Amino acid sequence: MDLNLSARVDTYIGDRLLGSDPMLEAVLAANQAAGLPPIDVSAAQGKFLNLMVSITRARRILEVGTLGGYSTIWMARALPEDGKLVTLEYSPHHAEVARSNIAGAGVGHLVDIRVGPAAETLPELAAGHSEPFDFIFIDADKPNNPTYLEWAIRLGRPGTVIILDNVIRDGQVIDTDNTDPRVIGTRAAFDMIASHPRLRATALQTVGAKGWDGFAIMVID
Ligand code: SAH
Ligand code: DHB
Ligand code: MG
Repeated sequence: MDLNLSARVDTYIGDRLLGSDPMLEAVLAANQAAGLPPIDVSAAQGKFLNLMVSITRARRILEVGTLGGYSTIWMARALPEDGKLVTLEYSPHHAEVARSNIAGAGVGHLVDIRVGPAAETLPELAAGHSEPFDFIFIDADKPNNPTYLEWAIRLGRPGTVIILDNVIRDGQVIDTDNTDPRVIGTRAAFDMIASHPRLRATALQTVGAKGWDGFAIMVID
């Protein structure tokens, strides 16, 4: 696989279908200036998340793993004016950068950032007994993915769509000898999804600006 070519194809997709987006380019520049790692979704993937929110007519979105809010903004842009996106972030620094980016993008009124380890903020959300989430994007620390999926099922409803990021990892996901906790966590998530009576799922591999990776896509029964 020529990843350099697939990155250029991502540029083509961006030029043809996404258009120039100074707001989102400013977000990536602000992230870099603040020292955040460049592990946001790609622009084409962000637009995919945006379209999925529209397709599912989601009004309430949950995100696990905010970073600088790049994926958050893509998803929030597809919400109706009375929609809500709750995003969970461990790092106070990342959350601060995200807060500024999200406000700058004009979607601050739609987004609620909760700072802390998601394994703590998810049970707090559940205790709040708010309406179920319609759409859930999980993109944080990979070893906790099985835990996050369990909470996603509890915080969703039949029909809720869950998307899990980074499930291919340059193909490392099929390496049973791999000792990287992110790979082990991803394999554990596949096992959990496969055996879960309420999840129907597939995974799609992606190439492009962010290399070879992929999303798992699930619906709760
Ligand atoms: N969704 C973002 C990228 C997220 S990167 C985008 O595409 O733009 C992963 C994020 O998860 C990082 O900001 C990291 O600080 C956060 N994270 C790591 N461990 C976490 C935890 N235990 N709870 C919540 N967030 C966590
Ligand atoms: C990593 C995490 C991500 O969410 C991502 O999109 C890419 C890489 C990582 O932890 O390496
Ligand atoms: Mg990711």
